[in-house]
Amino acid sequence: MTEKLIETTRELNREQHIEEVAQIMSIRARGAVPMACVRTYGCQQNVADGEKIKGQLEQMGFSFTEDEEEADLILFNTCAVREHAEDRVFGNVGALKNIKHRNPSLLIAVCGCMMEQEHVAEKMKKSFPFVNLVFGTHVIHKLPELLFRTLTDGRRVFERGDDSEDKTIIEGLPIRRDGSFKAWVTVMYGCNNFCTYCIVPYVRGRERSRKPEAILEEVRSLVSAGYRDITLLGQNVNSYGKELTPAISFAELLRQLDEIEGDFQLRFMTSHPKDATRELIDTIAQSRHISHHVHLPFQSGSNRVLKAMNRSYTREKYLDLVAYAKEKIPDLSLTSDIIVGFPGETYEEFCETVSLIKEVEFTSLYTFIYSPRVGTRAAEMPDPIPYEEKSHWLRELLAVQEEIAEKRCSVMVGTVQSVLAEERSPKTGLLAGRSGGNIMVEFAGGDELIGQFCQVRVTAARIWLLNGELV
Ligand code: SAH
Ligand code: SF4
Ligand code: F3S
Repeated sequence: MTEKLIETTRELNREQHIEEVAQIMSIRARGAVPMACVRTYGCQQNVADGEKIKGQLEQMGFSFTEDEEEADLILFNTCAVREHAEDRVFGNVGALKNIKHRNPSLLIAVCGCMMEQEHVAEKMKKSFPFVNLVFGTHVIHKLPELLFRTLTDGRRVFERGDDSEDKTIIEGLPIRRDGSFKAWVTVMYGCNNFCTYCIVPYVRGRERSRKPEAILEEVRSLVSAGYRDITLLGQNVNSYGKELTPAISFAELLRQLDEIEGDFQLRFMTSHPKDATRELIDTIAQSRHISHHVHLPFQSGSNRVLKAMNRSYTREKYLDLVAYAKEKIPDLSLTSDIIVGFPGETYEEFCETVSLIKEVEFTSLYTFIYSPRVGTRAAEMPDPIPYEEKSHWLRELLAVQEEIAEKRCSVMVGTVQSVLAEERSPKTGLLAGRSGGNIMVEFAGGDELIGQFCQVRVTAARIWLLNGELV
């Protein structure tokens, strides 16, 4: 009863805040539609959060612009995963000082993973006094209230979630999706794994899964609205549902989603090799809608380094799962993430990563040079190899992968692929889209095909791109 009352009061306040912000912003924009410029950095999870932020801003009467000069609100949704990502944000926020000088009524907000780190939020507070609002990943749903406070308090607002907020999931937030046929659906939040290099568990909190009914309903309504490419998101989707009552496995969730009728494909990311199971592979093999593509980050090919990373699997276990998957799904496309130069990694250990790449033959790789993150265990480990040398290693690895990608693309010549046409390539004027295995394909065709699955025979292969013709 009391809970219900609190919920109702919250709803009422929310409605009020939305209305008040809309009114104040309309006055500030002198009767014109207030404009928001929202920039999202980082992973798909952040992109999905950005769509919820935009959904709420739209409720508050905002339209959207890419031009910072014409914005009434500029919001940066940030990523903390590597130093480079953070430096870019500091640089870009710093550059807003001049715009704010010309337009003092401009509101500037910074949110996302970076702002969940205390030392970073402090730096934002001290060094960027023209930033009006700072909030973390756990309080996105409070945006109407936070904007209301920013607009009426006359003070800067800083808000990060408390313990209860980093454990709850708020359903029903409005979503303004960036695309009209590709959609992201977050199935779980947070991460429990604490890989020793990674900041994500510190800024995203513990794992919590959405109820399967909520996910099924969202995917059903996306399919009936014409969405064709739906990607399920979580930092470690294979531990989905473990803490729900009744518990449900990710493979079971996939089976239920696969029953939905319609012309769509399902993807998911990210799978952690320690939790990816043969059951998952069997589910993909037997499904109607799940694309034959698995993103399975292995990070390092050396067992010693994997242990130091706290990844909880071995090279052998990884290769065993890959062999099983290739046997069950012969046209499987595998992609992965790799870290080069983890603290203490030797050249010999790095070579084990290269040999794993050669053995698996990934379609493509996301490669990163290790970047120390304050507060993580790896940041305390001795790291004697200079960055310059790590860059050499990375270049060596990329050269190997380029050959593999070329080979993988060339064996596709002559095959027919189902390609979701996404856009017209500005360079070639051809239709461009991705195959089920996530390889870019270009082919001639009319605009009416954009957003449709097309059957395309591959006629030529370049390194990361296929050319084809409609069949
Ligand atoms: N949950 C996903 C990864 C999320 S972060 C998973 O476990 O695979 C995306 C990628 O960034 C990671 O896979 C890793 O390769 C890279 N990464 C994370 N922290 C990093 C760091 N401190 N330095 C360099 N790369 C990092
Ligand atoms: Fe980071 Fe590891 Fe969690 Fe992925 S599984 S988000 S790499 S801690
Ligand atoms: Fe970056 Fe946060 Fe994603 S740190 S990678 S945006 S979860």
